[in-house]
Amino acid sequence: MRMEKFSNVIELEKVDSTNTYLKKYGRHMDQDTVLFAAEQTDGKGRLGRNWYGEKGKSIFSSFLIRDVYDNSDAVRLSFLFSIAVKMMLSKHIDHSKIILKWPNDVMVSGKKICGILSEYSKECVIVGIGLNVLDFIPEGEISYPFTTMESESGTAFDIENIKSELVQSVNQVFTRYCTNCTKDMPLIWFREAGIKDLPVTVNQKDKMIEGHIDSIDELGSLIIRKSSGGRKEKIFYGDVIYND
Ligand code: BTN
Repeated sequence: MRMEKFSNVIELEKVDSTNTYLKKYGRHMDQDTVLFAAEQTDGKGRLGRNWYGEKGKSIFSSFLIRDVYDNSDAVRLSFLFSIAVKMMLSKHIDHSKIILKWPNDVMVSGKKICGILSEYSKECVIVGIGLNVLDFIPEGEISYPFTTMESESGTAFDIENIKSELVQSVNQVFTRYCTNCTKDMPLIWFREAGIKDLPVTVNQKDKMIEGHIDSIDELGSLIIRKSSGGRKEKIFYGDVIYND
């Protein structure tokens, strides 16, 4: 894997999903490609969910990292992108209100402002970022509290500026943290998130786990100290709720 700056920016008017597009064609595209679509008709979220946004109000983007031979790098890489989003947002929104939620949600005032979907396909990692910039009324149902940059700051941003700030921020974070190895990324994210010992509830398909955050491992699994019995449990998937 070569980690380079994203400088090849492709803009499309309408796609089903920017991630799906790069999964199809990414292998034949430049390593340093970032794809933006003005409109997305079948946006994908984590855990098989849909992702909604609105043309002219939301950013739909996917970043391509080629020549990746270990599929667990998809998870590790996504951590850096959430740090980059937080860094960009803190230029416009009070940084104490911005929280990184495992695995890679960016929350403001407890509401979701950005979703990140990292996928591995044909030796490529595709990191999709959906960012709510201007206020919009969602067409589909969004089952969790969400917010936008506009409502958090009172500014009607120029979406083109925010797109270039996003790419800049990703490039800065890559330059700051990246060597050629990805194994430190979860740890870097964990430090940045400042969530050690936080009380949490984890909702998984068939169970709910209560406990405190202990640490993160090299693959990006969260390690929880369970409230009942104090044993540690690795969390590979699920929705984490910070209970502070
Ligand atoms: C989540 O929080 O569930 C992740 C949402 C990721 C949404 C973005 S929008 C751009 C890219 N293309 C997609 O289909 N999904 C990601």
